[in-house]
Order: sequence, then structure tokens, then C-alpha cells
Amino acid sequence: MFRRFQAPWQANTDTVTPKSLYLNRRKIMAAGGALALTGITGCGNAQSSTAQTPAGRHPSGPGTALDFRQTDYRISDPSTPYDAVTGYNNFYEFGVGKDDPARHAHAMTTSPWSISVEGLAERTGEFALADVIDFGALEERIYRLRCVEAWSMVIPWIGVPLGSVLQSFQPSSEARYVQFETYLNRDEMRGTRFRVLDWPYVEGLRMDEAVNELAFLAVGLYGEVLPNQNGAPIRLVVPWKYGYKSIKSIRAIRFTAEQPDTSWNLSAPHEYGFYSNVNPNRAHPRWSQSSERVIGGGVFARRETEMFNGYEEQVASLYEGMDLLVNH
Ligand code: MTE
Repeated sequence: MFRRFQAPWQANTDTVTPKSLYLNRRKIMAAGGALALTGITGCGNAQSSTAQTPAGRHPSGPGTALDFRQTDYRISDPSTPYDAVTGYNNFYEFGVGKDDPARHAHAMTTSPWSISVEGLAERTGEFALADVIDFGALEERIYRLRCVEAWSMVIPWIGVPLGSVLQSFQPSSEARYVQFETYLNRDEMRGTRFRVLDWPYVEGLRMDEAVNELAFLAVGLYGEVLPNQNGAPIRLVVPWKYGYKSIKSIRAIRFTAEQPDTSWNLSAPHEYGFYSNVNPNRAHPRWSQSSERVIGGGVFARRETEMFNGYEEQVASLYEGMDLLVNH
């Protein structure tokens, strides 16, 4: 990709971790974990397969290595250790504890997987995952995920730009918004037996936000197919918004003319607006948003929260003329 200048959140490509290194690191950790003592952070899941899936094919099951190309969408801060990325999660369908998703999400059936495309578009209906995502065109992007709970992680995602997927369904000119819905199966998702939220989990974006170059659909992380607790087999990543916009295990995509419902806005409208842009100048009614805990960085690791999570140059123009303290 051609760029005139390098945005602050992009590191030089020579700082990139090649896929082979992820995989080697996995093998090393699986071989005994002795290197953990040297301070190398990373993958500790010895069960995962390192088998390569033929390019372009929908790979089966979490842990399978993916083929992808590297891009210059990456921040230079060190990636959060794999164990924290996959062990400290929010996926309320499996419970509200941070370790509940890692303990219980294996119960979710992720293959076969289809996505229902609905609403104001030319191509609607039920699509197999491999017909939605071009598995031969996967790319890696290292984004910071800033959770509304004032912590953050840096995650090497694998996936495709959201805009290209949405365009493939040929939305009509009346489609001003897009809503996403998470899979719901009360037998497999023990957390949905409680009315913590109105299930299924739903999220939404304005169409111009959805086709912004940063919005991403992830099918993997750390070089491999997404673990269930991170939203297998397909989840959204919207790096300039609070983490709850990044909806997991997407089962439906809906093109709408009106602003769609979103789960957290329905549950507490005063606390969670539709836009949910990361904004250190607007405190959550119950806590400050000016700084964040860096997960995996040690007990005291913190950083100042940046406007739009550091992606101001790419997205600020989307909100020109809007009062972001009102439209939060
Ligand atoms: N998607 C669904 N379906 N259910 C959830 O509870 N939690 C959100 C988001 N997507 C959530 C979800 C929140 S609050 C955050 S911070 C991110 O997922 C966490 O993603 P991670 O666990 O992969 O880090």
C-alpha cells in the first residue's frame, strides 16, 4: 500500500514479526517452556496444531495456522502476550468473569458457519463463511484494543478490511448503517441463561465508519485461526472505538436506513452511546477514561489514552461538526 507519510501508529516494516517466528515460538513453547524463563512472551498453548491450511481455503478449527500477508497497519508497542490475549476476555455470552470465555467458549460450534446478510443490499441471504471472507487475501494488522473498562491490549489480528466485504453485498444508497449480530445458542453459551444483556449481542456502525480503511473483520490472531474466546470464527475490530463495538462470532449482517440498536446502548444509554469513540476527554459516568492499564505489561503498567485511540488522522474527519461529548 502506498502512503505519503507514516502515521504515528505505524511502525517501520522492519519491526514486523514474521509469521514463521510466531510458529517457531509456538513450537518452542510447546517443547517444554524452558524459554519462558528468559522473558520471551508469547504462546503457551501446546495443544494447538501448527499445520498449514492450503491458501484460500477455510481452515478448520482454532489453532490452525493461517496464510496472510503483512501490512503497514501496525503499532510499534509490543504485542500483548498470547496468554493474556486469549485468557483475559470479555465475551458475556460465556460469563462475566475475565477467565469465563477461555474456560467455556470451547462449547461453541464454529464450523460449519454461515452468515445471514439482510436488509438494504443487492445480495442478501445465507452465505457460508468462505463465501464472505476471501481466505486467500488475509492480511495482518496490529491494532490496540482499548476496552471501555480502561485497559488495553495490542493484538496482531489476521483478517480482511470490513469495507471490501460489505461492498461485495452491494448495499443500496439508502443503507446508512450496518448492524452486526452475534450467534446465539443458549445450550452452548452458558452466560446467555442470565439476562446480563438483551441477547443476541448486537452492534452497529454508520456506513462511512464501516468502510473506513481501519475497520477490520478478523478471523485469526497471532498467525492462527481465532480461539473461540476471541470471537471465532469471525469478529469485528474497530480500533478507534471502545472494545465493545468489536462484536464477536458474527452470525448476521444487516444493512439499515435507521441507526440500529446496540447492546450496551440498550442496557445503559447514559453510559454507552452509539458512537463509542475512544475519548480521554469524556469520562464514563463512573470512572475516568484519561488513562488505561496495559494488560500484560506488569502490575503498574499504564498509558495515557489517546483521542480515537491514536487513530485521529484516519477517522477524525468522520465526525466533523459533531459534538463528541454529546454524541458519545
Ligand atoms: N462480543 C460479544 N458478542 N459479546 C461480548 O461480551 N465483549 C466486547 C467485545 N465483543 C463482547 C463482544 C468487549 S467489552 C470487548 S473489550 C472485546 O470484545 C474484547 O475482545 P477480546 O476478548 O478478544 O480482547
